[in-house]
Amino acid sequence: MTDLPHIIQLGDARLREIARPIEDFNCAATRRLIADMQNLMQAGNGVGIAAPQLGESWRVVIIASRPTSRYPHAPEMPATVMINPRFEITDASQHKDWEGCLSIPGIRALAPRYRAIKVFYQNPQAEFLQLALDHFPARVFQHEYDHLQGLVYLDRVENNRDIISESEYLKRIAAE
Ligand code: NI
Repeated sequence: MTDLPHIIQLGDARLREIARPIEDFNCAATRRLIADMQNLMQAGNGVGIAAPQLGESWRVVIIASRPTSRYPHAPEMPATVMINPRFEITDASQHKDWEGCLSIPGIRALAPRYRAIKVFYQNPQAEFLQLALDHFPARVFQHEYDHLQGLVYLDRVENNRDIISESEYLKRIAAE
C-alpha cells in the first residue's frame, strides 16, 4: 500500500535525515518526485519545497519566489528545480526576516540568513548550472537547503520571542 504524496510534518524523523545525492536523472521515480514536489508546493502556496518534505530523502529542491497568500511581498522568479545543489556565500552579512514552512504549519519566525549566495546545481536534464541569488530568493534557497541537511528553520531562530503564530504574522504584513 502506498500513500499519496503529501507534506510530512515536524516530528517525522525523515525531516532530520541527511538527503542523498541524485545519481539517476532519467529514472521515472526522479521525474515523479519532481512533479509531486511542484504540485504540493503550488497546492500549499509555498515559495519553495525540498524532497525530504515528501519523506523522500534526496537532494532536490525547488525555489519559486512569487507573491502568494502566504508571502504577498515575494518577488517573482521562474520556478527552478535544483538537484544536488551546493552554495557559496557572496555576502556574509546576515539578515533576519520572517519564514514559514509547509512542514510546520501555523507558525512564523525570524531566521537569520546570508544576504547573497551563488548556487551550483544540476537541472533535471543533469546539466550543471549556477545562479546568483540575493535577498528573498537567497533566503528561500538557504531554507530549502537546510531541509537537505536535516535542519528546519526553527533550528536557526536565535530567540523564542522571534516565533509568532501565522495569524499574527498575517496581521502584521497586512498593516505594512
Ligand atoms: Ni520548509
